[in-house]
Amino acid sequence: MSIGIIGSGALGSNVARALAKKGIAATISNSRGPESLASLVQELGPSIKAGTTAEAASADIVFAAVRWTDAEKVLSGLPAWNGRIVVDGTNPVEFLDPNSPDAKDPTNPLAAYGIKAVDLGDKYSSEVISQFVPGARVVKAFNHLGVNVLSEPEVAGGKRVLFYSGDDADAKAEVRKIIEDIGFSPVDLGSLDVGGPLASLPFGSLAAQNFIKIQ
Ligand SMILES: NC(=O)c1ccc[n+]([C@@H]2O[C@H](COP(=O)([O-])OP(=O)(O)OC[C@H]3O[C@@H](n4cnc5c(N)ncnc54)[C@H](OP(=O)(O)O)[C@@H]3O)[C@@H](O)[C@H]2O)c1
Repeated sequence: MSIGIIGSGALGSNVARALAKKGIAATISNSRGPESLASLVQELGPSIKAGTTAEAASADIVFAAVRWTDAEKVLSGLPAWNGRIVVDGTNPVEFLDPNSPDAKDPTNPLAAYGIKAVDLGDKYSSEVISQFVPGARVVKAFNHLGVNVLSEPEVAGGKRVLFYSGDDADAKAEVRKIIEDIGFSPVDLGSLDVGGPLASLPFGSLAAQNFIKIQ
């Protein structure tokens, strides 16, 4: 199974770092093109290659590691998905310009964190992402932990728990295998409509929970 990563920021680069630590091959991309990733791929070693977004998006398993506000633009219009797997690592939050009035909005409980929740109406976030990637099998994962712990799966004599959810059992099994291969303890939260909201920032009750499974 080939792996692509769309986005090389905080999440995308740390997913790549976690894969690289186990020698797992992947192609990573960003908005500025492969040349801009030269120092990152040099740091990560030979298993991680820089590519265009179209190249990363043609993999069997594609991590979506872009900001919510960019997701539609980035994901729509990519080559046909034909049942390939999208790992939805996004959270439905908008990053605020610290100088904007929004950053000081007293009605926003997240203003101090520099973010605000996106109003999804009656939808859950992976339902929205799924609309941008028609024909893909979406698995929600890698969105609930701080990115700095992604390259430290094993701590305190145990393994950090990484939640995942999805509606396709085979797709979930593939993502579970990646989670295991990089050293985390996978926990299946069920279907996208149940597990997704539970582990999504900002308000999911399991969001940002850093559990460790003791062996
Ligand atoms: N930061 C966290 O701790 C964390 C944790 C879990 C989940 N998340 C979620 O992960 C997602 C990404 O967050 P982040 O913090 O990694 O954001 P970020 O650091 O701003 O990175 C976003 C990445 O998306 C890329 N991008 C934008 N437009 C693109 C395009 N057209 N084609 C390819 N790549 C494009 C950017 O490319 P350039 O580098 O060229 O600008 C950048 O590499 C968000 O949904 C966030 O909620 C974040």
